[in-house]
This record gives sequence, structure tokens and C-alpha cells, in this order.
Amino acid sequence: MKKVFERFLFGGDYNPNQWPQEIWQEDMRIFRNAHINSATINVFSWAKIQPSEHDYYFNELDEMIDMLSEEGYDIVLATSTAALPAWMFKRYPEVARTDYEGRHHKFGQRHNACPNSLVYQKYTQRLAGKLAQRYGDNPQITCWHINNEYGGECYCENCEKAFRVWLKDKYQTLEALNKAWNLEFWGHTVYEWDEIVLPNALSEGIGHDKTAFAGISIDYRRFNSDSLLENFKLERDAIRQFDSQTPITTNLMGTFKGLDYFKWAKEMDIVSWDNYPSYNTPWSFVAMTHDLMRGLKQAPFMLMEQTPSQQNWQPYNSLKKPGQMRAQSYQTIAHGADTIQFFQLRRSIGACEKFHGAVIEHVGHENTRVFKETAALGEELSRLNEVLGSETKAEVGVLFDWDNYWALEYTSGPTVDLTYVQQIHQYYRYFYEKNIATDLVSVDADFSKYQVLVAPVLYMVKAGMKEALESFVEQGGTLITTYMSGIVDESDNVHLGGYPGPLRELAGIWVEEIDALAPEQTNVIQLKKGRQGESNLVSEIIHLETAESVAEYTSNFYAGSPAVTKNRFGKGVVYYIGTQLEKDLLNTILDEAINSANLIAVIEGETNLEISCRHTEEAVYYFIINFQEQAQKVPAQFVGKKDLLSGKHLTGDSVADQYSVYVIKEGRSE
Ligand code: GLA
Ligand code: ZN
Repeated sequence: MKKVFERFLFGGDYNPNQWPQEIWQEDMRIFRNAHINSATINVFSWAKIQPSEHDYYFNELDEMIDMLSEEGYDIVLATSTAALPAWMFKRYPEVARTDYEGRHHKFGQRHNACPNSLVYQKYTQRLAGKLAQRYGDNPQITCWHINNEYGGECYCENCEKAFRVWLKDKYQTLEALNKAWNLEFWGHTVYEWDEIVLPNALSEGIGHDKTAFAGISIDYRRFNSDSLLENFKLERDAIRQFDSQTPITTNLMGTFKGLDYFKWAKEMDIVSWDNYPSYNTPWSFVAMTHDLMRGLKQAPFMLMEQTPSQQNWQPYNSLKKPGQMRAQSYQTIAHGADTIQFFQLRRSIGACEKFHGAVIEHVGHENTRVFKETAALGEELSRLNEVLGSETKAEVGVLFDWDNYWALEYTSGPTVDLTYVQQIHQYYRYFYEKNIATDLVSVDADFSKYQVLVAPVLYMVKAGMKEALESFVEQGGTLITTYMSGIVDESDNVHLGGYPGPLRELAGIWVEEIDALAPEQTNVIQLKKGRQGESNLVSEIIHLETAESVAEYTSNFYAGSPAVTKNRFGKGVVYYIGTQLEKDLLNTILDEAINSANLIAVIEGETNLEISCRHTEEAVYYFIINFQEQAQKVPAQFVGKKDLLSGKHLTGDSVADQYSVYVIKEGRSE
């Protein structure tokens, strides 16, 4: 794999414009001591650059770029278009968004522009172009960062008109649209394109996150994701007129629901993302999100933002404990990051982020724990450039699909507790705990390189997926899927003829009913070979066709009917898990399912350490991290090997304390 950067970019969001110039030189001195070699600048400076409609001033940005260039920084230059200047709202109120409740917004906040506003589009394009024209040939500009954390929705009349155009392009005829949205239901048939309205609280909305017609809402999500993507592309293309080479990105947000990141990634040169777990986010969840971000392009990504110490915007903004930031950074690298960047380099004095951690804290000097930890990491990373561009090799693919995410969560019934990402995580976690490398893959990926595919709650089965999954299994693959799969098509209309619709033959079953279990309710599940356990959330009532039963319900009126099934199909096998199993029981089933697949774990034997690998043509790099509170023994296979970070050899009694990290390199021939 080709690396995008020559060295680990180590730095982050830097806003010298918020500070007097005397501070700038002091910053440079301090950052040098932390091996900081990169700064992301100009993220929120539109009002400074363009204080009125026809005036542009680049002097301050010139000075920043000159200073950073002289210092040899890799500059990540943002386009500043995520927060609009006040004059624009005053002169062109239509640049503001209209929210779900139909309220038209005023100047304020950020991420607040109507994506379909021609005024917004005109000025973002112009600004991006001017920046590229002015700075595009500066070799220190290492990456373009368009906008910031695209997201949010607009329900203004402008968007409504654009939605109709998008729909016309998609459906061609109203007949097709009426059918796709099943508008005969409640007699919502439309006869003119301009009868179509956006699905919000004033129209089809039910509560805050459901609507009467999920099909309309899913199309709206697709449209909104496309509208924002169009904004990104306009800026990208404006930059490309003046700079044909420097990679272009925008910072994504992991499992963020609003945008179809697989579609977005196709338009980006490199994926970058902002990682802000809470104090109680499982490490397996964080790892999963990294794998998703790597999966978007099946390539290394940038960690555009993480906090060196704490956030300000979560309910409880715990400090990262000593060593935690380092461990978390290596986890990020282990799962595919080629940069470690922070939000932010110097903590701001006012507004809502003054409690957000930074490399330089309010005290203003470098004699802080956070600074020292940052500096130590910077030193280590400056010795680790050989890892850049290396790949992850996985034999397990977990399907992730934004259409499915939206459809599953818009659907009314059977239970409000079914959430997409949490379902994916339950399965991901199993492989994570076994240190089996996993890719998060899109539904249209090439499945042939995987031994095992896991498709939890594959609610929406779109055209072509039946064939793709069948051919994967036929050729010997193991497919694991679950309750609430194969139910609807891409318009959210049910595949008739028994669930799981197009997957029925593959799974060798049909599902007659889907029971929702309230939080206080459980079912008892008996494994055919072995023990009992509990299940919750949903329980499907399954009929065997060609499949055999692996576990069955022993409680409820459906006692005796299968809860988990296994079906041979071609050379492969399909497991269908019809109810949410408690962890141990799920593990037992998954142990059996992957047994036949012969997966190679990263290491032999069990460990509570997180161990993952990156591969180059010459070497394998093992990243060994202890996220457990208790110290853990280092697996025997690493005894005698040299830790690249400390230079020390691991001994038989090497014990990893919480947050310790070792990086072991093994040559291919070894
Ligand atoms: C986001 C934004 C940053 C900053 C951080 C704070 O990731 O991109 O501008 O607000 O959150 O955590
Ligand atoms: Zn709008």
C-alpha cells in the first residue's frame, strides 16, 4: 500500500488567530519540545478572512503559514466553511438552516448552513478556490481539510425543491415514487412533484426520530447526505483547479448516523476522523470505529482529532489517566491511523470549549502532565515512520451499511430498544476479544477475501445482495446473520413470502413472528449440545426448512421452536441467530460458527491484551496494549522480542500494566 505522508503527522488544531502574536513564537518553542510537526489551521476563520461580502484579507493567515512553513510543519489547511460569517446571515437569511420543527435559524453556532443555498455554495467555492490559489503551491501544505464535521439537516423550502429534483432523478415518474414509498397507505398518493414535502415534524414526523413513512425519510437521509457531499465536492473541485496533488479530506465522526460515509469516502483522497470516546465507552467499541474508518477506503486513515486530556461537551468529561492517551493513540495506529492529531494545541480562553483539554493548558507552560505525555508520544512516533502505509489483514468482515442503519432505526416496531450500531458492536466485540482482525465492510464490497462474514440485523437487503451473499457461502464462506434480517428492500417495503425474504433459502428457515421483549422480560435458550442461557430484546419464531436447530427456546409459548439455526449451503454454512443472546451464550455459538472457518487469530492462546497487527511487505508490526485495570502477562510468543518503543527485550516475566504498549516487529522471513 502506498503511504500518503512521509512521516507521522503529529500535531492538531491550532488557532493562533485567537491569540496575540507574542504567544505564537512561544508556541513554536513549546511545540518543538513535543516533536509536534503538524498543525491544522484555519478551521473557523471565515469571518476573519472575509469580514464583508466583497473583502478578503489573508494577511494573518499568510503570517501563520509563513511561520509554520519556516518551522518545517506539515500544514493541514482547512477551508473555514463550517461556521459562516455574521454578515452572510444578515444579507442572505436563506443561508441559515430550517430545523426539524420548521424553525428558520439565525446567525449562531456552526455547521449551520443550508447545504442547498446557492449563496452558501457560491461563497464556499470561492473561498476554497482563493485559498488554493494562494497557498496551493506551498510544499508545506500537506493536506486540505474541507469544512469540519459535516452533519445536520435542513428542512427549508430550498431543500424541499432540491429534494424534488433529486427524487425526479431517482424515480423518473411519480408512479414509481408512489410505489416506492407505498403512498397508498393512508392515501398519501401524490399527483404533482410539488406536492412532495420534506419529512419533518410538520409533515410525516412521529415523535422525534420516526416518521409515518420510513421510505420517505430514508430517501431524505440519502438526499441530505448527498447534498452535504455536493458541498464537499464543490470545495474540493475548487481546490483542484489550483492544486492538483495535495490530498484532500474532511473529518468524519465514526458511526455518525447522518452521512453515508462509504459514499463519501469515494470522493475523499484519505479518510480522517475525530475520536472522542466517553469515559465508559468500551475499548472494543473504539476499535470497531477505527476499523470502520479504515474500512471506508480499506486504507490507512488520519486521526484528525482526539483530546490530549478531556472533552468539554460530554456529560462527564473525565481526564485521560496517565498513559491512557498514549495507549489510545497506539490503538488508533494499530487499527490503521497514519497520523495522531489533537484537538487542540492551545486551550482557548473563552466560549464553550475553554474546558476542552489541549497540549498547552491555561497555565501557559509545558510543565504539565498532559504536555509531558504528549511530548513523550511525539518522540516515539518520530521513530515509527516505517509503519506508515502498512495494511491490516482480516479474514472476517462485518457488514456496515448506512441505508440499513437508517431503515432499522426509522422503522416503527417491534421494539424501540433495537439500535443498529449497538447490534454491530455485540458481534464485533466477540472477534475483538479473541484478537481476530476484522474489517468493517460495505454491502457492496468484494467478499471473496473473507472466511467469515457477519451481518447483524441485515434488515434491508438491496438488489444484488442476495446473489452476493449466496455466492460467498456457496464457495465455502461462513455467514452469520441475525433476527430482523432480510425484511425490507431498499425502499423499506417488505420482501413478501416469509422473513428473511431473499435470505430465506440461504438460511434454510422462515420466520413467522417477531416477539419484542420488554427490558424486564427474557427467554430461556437451550443449546442442542450443552447449556442454557437467556435471551432478550427480540425473539423470532423460526421454522426450519433445510437448516438444523442449534438452540431452542424453552420458555414462552414458542418453547421448543428453534432460536438459532445452521444451514449448509454449497460449500459453506449460514448461522441464523433469532434472538439477542446473553454474551456467554453468543460466544459459544460464535465459537462453533468460526471453528469450521479456521480463522487465524493474531496470537495463539488467550489473552486479555488487545493485540493487532499492521503488515508491510517486509514485516509484521504487533501492537500489544493493556486496557485492563489489572496487569497482564505478555504472551510467550513475544518473549525475547524487542519492543520498538522502549528498545527493551520482553522477558518471560514481562507484565503489562494498565495502558502499557509494546510494538514488536517481526520480519517476514522469521
Ligand atoms: C469536534 C470539532 C472541533 C472541536 C472538538 C471538541 O470534533 O471538530 O472543532 O469542537 O469537537 O471536542
Ligand atoms: Zn435548506
